[in-house]
Amino acid sequence: MTTRRAWKLPSAGSLDRLALVTEDLPPPGAGEARVRVEAIGLNFADIFAGLGLYSATPSGAFIPGLECAGVVEALGPSRAGSEAAGTAVAPGDRVMVLTRFGGYATALNVDTRYLVPLPPRWTMADGAAYLVPALTAWYGLIHLGALAHGQVVLIHSAAGGVGLRALAMAQATGARVIGTVGHGDKLPLLEARGLARAQVVVREPSRFGAQLDAALAAVGAARFDLVFDALAGPFFLPSLTRLAPEGRHVLYGAADFMPSGARTNWMRLAWQYLRRPRLDPMKLIDQNRSVLGFNLIWLFERADRLPAAAAAALALSPAPSHIGARFPFEAVPQAMRALQGGRTTGKVVVEV
Ligand SMILES: NC(=O)c1ccc[n+]([C@@H]2O[C@H](COP(=O)([O-])OP(=O)(O)OC[C@H]3O[C@@H](n4cnc5c(N)ncnc54)[C@H](OP(=O)(O)O)[C@@H]3O)[C@@H](O)[C@H]2O)c1
Repeated sequence: MTTRRAWKLPSAGSLDRLALVTEDLPPPGAGEARVRVEAIGLNFADIFAGLGLYSATPSGAFIPGLECAGVVEALGPSRAGSEAAGTAVAPGDRVMVLTRFGGYATALNVDTRYLVPLPPRWTMADGAAYLVPALTAWYGLIHLGALAHGQVVLIHSAAGGVGLRALAMAQATGARVIGTVGHGDKLPLLEARGLARAQVVVREPSRFGAQLDAALAAVGAARFDLVFDALAGPFFLPSLTRLAPEGRHVLYGAADFMPSGARTNWMRLAWQYLRRPRLDPMKLIDQNRSVLGFNLIWLFERADRLPAAAAAALALSPAPSHIGARFPFEAVPQAMRALQGGRTTGKVVVEV
């Protein structure tokens, strides 16, 4: 038995109830490793989960957090039966960790199938900031989206954690990229990543379609081959209607629905939900367009597919993530509020 500190919610619903607790952590079970956590990567889904807006959120008390990095401290007994053996690790190994909640802690027991060795020379913060955005971008852009050299891709929230990784993967594929951001102060970062000013749209709902047309003209195209969209809301239809024949609109989130406070305003959310974009599936046939959706939790449940997906992401985009903000472990609530506010760039990382 060891003790750990963890940020825990008594139940989903209000971020204000997040509390730092000290508790016992039992020894790792069969097929598990105990990892001493040194850095935690925050994800937008952590906020949705805390507010009770994420379908996979556990009922009752839970520790948020989907990814972290640390050092293997102890191993449980080997897994019985014919299941996959998991990643071969030994005490002292530095690892990146995927976890279905539980990451906001100074130590955790994790199934070794969800461990990926930390690449040489990467810091713990680099490791905590890589897996979720990289798997999301790889799965959405490459596996589902079939992005190819020369194609035109629209990446919403291009300066965010997933967005910057998607940008790097699209550039590595040889695609032409148009990015969108919510605020002009994110422009210099994208320009430093190789996007010309005309390739970045600072979204304005009232003239978003015209903004997309101008950006398309700037890259010498009339339509998108792929839209990579975690916004939904008023930006969905203007993007979808600019898809070329054979175009794919990959929808993987709904950031536009993010409440601004520590609790959800259910009236406002219901109003947004009623006004959510609708589409006629019959038109997709005539127009030769596809709309695809995914949730990484599905891939998490397919642990057998994770090593190949992580290896493909690392092969295509091997550089560490841009870390836009760092917080100490004691400041997890402030880190969450910063991410929720929509003004962060790259990954928000908490260091233990
Ligand atoms: N389906 C999956 O499996 C999966 C996996 C990982 C992430 N996601 C989704 O991917 C998106 C990006 O995730 P991330 O963790 O990398 O976050 P992120 O992009 O680093 O941060 C979220 C961004 O959302 C944008 N945004 C748009 N409307 C917003 C609002 N009303 N309030 C706050 N922010 C708003 C902001 O950027 P701009 O204003 O510049 O656009 C903000 O910076 C999220 O929607 C997340 O839920 C889905």
